[in-house]
Amino acid sequence: MAEEAILAYLEKEEEISNSENFAQQFGFSHEEILNVIRRLHGFKFVEAKDIRRERWVLTEEGETYAAVGSPEFQLFSAVPPEGIIALEELQKKLDPAVYKIGWQQALKNKWVQMKTDVPMKDVSRKVQPADDKVKDLLLRIQNNEVYCFEDIDALKRRKLIIQQVWKGNSVRKGPKYAPIRKRAATNLTRENLQRGDWKELEFKEYNFSAKGQPFEGGHLHPLLKVRRQVQTIFLNMGFEEMPTNNYVESSFWNFDALFQPQQHPARDSHDTFFLKVPSTTKMLPEDYVERVKEIHESGGYQSRGYGYDWKREEANKNLLRTHTTAVSSRMLFALAQKPFAPKKYYSIDRVFRNEAVDRTHLAEFHQIEGLICDRGLTLGDLIGVLHDFFSRLGMSKLRFKPAYNPYTEPSMEIFSYHEGFKKWVEVGNSGMFRPEMLLPMGLPEDVRVIAWGLSLERPTMILYGIDNIRDLFGSKVDLSLIKRNPICRLGL
Ligand code: PHE
Repeated sequence: MAEEAILAYLEKEEEISNSENFAQQFGFSHEEILNVIRRLHGFKFVEAKDIRRERWVLTEEGETYAAVGSPEFQLFSAVPPEGIIALEELQKKLDPAVYKIGWQQALKNKWVQMKTDVPMKDVSRKVQPADDKVKDLLLRIQNNEVYCFEDIDALKRRKLIIQQVWKGNSVRKGPKYAPIRKRAATNLTRENLQRGDWKELEFKEYNFSAKGQPFEGGHLHPLLKVRRQVQTIFLNMGFEEMPTNNYVESSFWNFDALFQPQQHPARDSHDTFFLKVPSTTKMLPEDYVERVKEIHESGGYQSRGYGYDWKREEANKNLLRTHTTAVSSRMLFALAQKPFAPKKYYSIDRVFRNEAVDRTHLAEFHQIEGLICDRGLTLGDLIGVLHDFFSRLGMSKLRFKPAYNPYTEPSMEIFSYHEGFKKWVEVGNSGMFRPEMLLPMGLPEDVRVIAWGLSLERPTMILYGIDNIRDLFGSKVDLSLIKRNPICRLGL
């Protein structure tokens, strides 16, 4: 084997001066030898130096002349040693190309001469004998023998030789040289122990930075991984999950119960997907619907309402829920039907909006929503719980900006300082649910509900360094993202 041959050679000799000669001598291909040298060099068994040589090789034409003689010599040989030959006669004896080149060169060399004083053009030799230096030099180059460098100029011009770059190695012993390379053992086997050869074994060192084999089988999408972590945060904070297993919702729970007026632009088909079949809901709690109609039309509980003509048909329309707050309104209504007990609820699920898709928007995405329902809660409680929640997500610097939602007052947009982007980024929306929403449900007057919502996609994209939402979710996602995404942890 090539490896053994090299190591054995270096045991006796100081150097392999030319890898190609070595390969020839021991019957290997030069390529194989170079590969082995590279590997041994990597293990520091040998030290290899690159050699680069520009050398001359014969062209096809050069090869022929090396074999049969230069054209001028062929021409010379065709001229009789004594006497003369007619030029036409000479031309007939030779190949046209050989004749043409040979004649020029032979004249230049003053090997032949032409008698012009007689009517017939006769040729005779001028020297005796001629020495075919061209052939000689070509042979030397071909056989890698020494030659005088100045002589090659003419061959170059006559395109009988061209330059070729040759690369090889010279090799000496390396710092870890040994005549035989023991393959380091990767496992300690039962047999090693039984035979006792474990004492002599050299073990391969651990590679702590190796990534390990990619495993086959199922892979979790980044959204699922982040969802699990957010879920854990809520559970650690004592929240219960709300049942969000209905993408289809009625306008009533999605909008009306949330005190969102029926002419609000979000209720337009440009923003919301309405269902064709079944286009309307059949079941709504009638007396509560009545109270919702009241509050929209003429107010109550110290509110003046919106003062418009509330339509049941509008509330009946089925849609794909535009926020998980639709589920929150159902849950709060259910809570109001029993003797009051404080609650902490959360949900993480899909919502739909009729959006033009771009690098930050999709027509469907996931919302994270949390709410706390208790007597006497204040905006301070909301700010406090947001700090707690978001710092568990790894966002501890927060700022709040007054905002508007039809169902909360006051409302606050949540901003977090992103250390990587070096700027404040919007991370969510929050507020205290309005009395116009809570009181018609039947919740006690002093019960306040603080709530917030954010997308699951935003923190996932930041965490995984994805800047186009279409690379994360939807039909254009590269499956290898799901196979190869690393473990990323929220929080600090
Ligand atoms: N529903 C809001 C949204 O879609 C989020 C939110 C939830 C705001 C709860 C306030 C309170 O963005």
